[in-house]
Amino acid sequence: MELRPGFTSRIGFILAAAGSAVGLGNIWRFPYLAGQNGGAAFLVIYLAFIFLLCFPVMVGEIAIGRAAGRDAYGSYTLLGGKRWGYLGLFGILAGIFILSFYNVVAGWAFGYFLEITFGNLLNEPNFRNFFGAYVSDISDNLWFSLGFMVITAFIVSRGIQKGVEAANKIMMPALYLILLVLIAYSLTLPNAWQGVRFYLVPELNEINARTIYDGLSGLFFSLSLGMGCLITYGSYISKDQNIVRSAAIISVADAMVAFLAGFMVFPMVFSQNISPTEGPALVFIVLPDIFQDMGPVLGRLVGGGFFLLLCFAALTSTISLLEVPTTYMVDQLKLNRKRVVWVLALLIFILGLPTMVSQGTVKAFSSLPFYLNRDFLTFISDMCDISLTVGGCLMCLFVLTTWKLKNLDAELAIGNPGYEHSFMRRYLSLMIGYVCPAVLGVLSLLIIDNYFGLGIFF
Ligand code: TRP
Repeated sequence: MELRPGFTSRIGFILAAAGSAVGLGNIWRFPYLAGQNGGAAFLVIYLAFIFLLCFPVMVGEIAIGRAAGRDAYGSYTLLGGKRWGYLGLFGILAGIFILSFYNVVAGWAFGYFLEITFGNLLNEPNFRNFFGAYVSDISDNLWFSLGFMVITAFIVSRGIQKGVEAANKIMMPALYLILLVLIAYSLTLPNAWQGVRFYLVPELNEINARTIYDGLSGLFFSLSLGMGCLITYGSYISKDQNIVRSAAIISVADAMVAFLAGFMVFPMVFSQNISPTEGPALVFIVLPDIFQDMGPVLGRLVGGGFFLLLCFAALTSTISLLEVPTTYMVDQLKLNRKRVVWVLALLIFILGLPTMVSQGTVKAFSSLPFYLNRDFLTFISDMCDISLTVGGCLMCLFVLTTWKLKNLDAELAIGNPGYEHSFMRRYLSLMIGYVCPAVLGVLSLLIIDNYFGLGIFF
């Protein structure tokens, strides 16, 4: 195994991996899904799935990465031969596509942050109209998302230690801090407790197949699983790390941010007597309204703080996404990291242009033809959900059939004395070997069925 500089500490890796997981998914998607699906009931399901499905897959990915010590493609190839290498390549490609659209949405958040904090965005009379115009007129957004990509590339170009690890060590604690301050403020608003109650008292009768499905379909996206992101980060950790424990901490850290985001959002929403079931509009339309009502100074502070939080969450994720193809190029083709990063960033930015014009700018991309009938952004993020779920399923099958559970066990026992005979070992073998691939296989079919309206199950 070639030796390349990796994370300098256990906490460095944990923060970077948690930073990858914590993203727009937690702060933007989770609260609105919870709002639409019975509040706490959804939360319970979400948490259960994280620990039943995601935690084992996360352990598997990190173990593969550390065992092989190279990029996603190289790791699968080393441990399982050329054919499995394609799974790695598939993941790297998925990551490139994810970054291409993720960066556009991050650009919206970046623009909101700049224009609320330093501009006049809070004077807008109607945020629904504003947001519609904002995402369809790309003359501003082009620069915001380019700026976001440049910041991402700059950090990744500095390498794992001085770039990825250093940036996460600053941004992750800052993210938690901002989140806590905003929650504290949020809880002082009138009617705040009604929001908390809505969030925490489970409406059990609102749990149905749909709720469960909604909880599951975006789960791998939320935890950055299924495309080799954690194989890549895992390849940079040392043999004395306890992988099982680190994965548990990362899962908790991710779930915690999603959970806490609800405490920030719902009291705000209830304080304005707005329906908590607003959906994707929650962050860009409902919340700015609330910030506006706080008055020019407080609104700027709280609103600016909120969007800064969103930018940090997004940036720690885009960093991890860009690192995946970068590590691949550096490991496989022995290219210079700096040059690779900037070329990739430029290409991925260009790849994101169809997404950028898919919100009303260019008609062909705003409503795709035939049965696809959705905008390009929705289409490509749907495709990614499918790829990640299939990718996670195949990763488990790779461990079961090719790498073998005993090699997984052996890797996990390194840095984890007593693992050999623990209950955890039996649990993880059962989950990674049998339960996860079966559940993920079925889930992949459900997602494909649902997205393409095939009508087999739904
Ligand atoms: N998990 C991040 C979020 O919730 C997005 C993300 C970062 C991601 N890296 C990833 C998704 C790798 C899938 C794969 O916003």
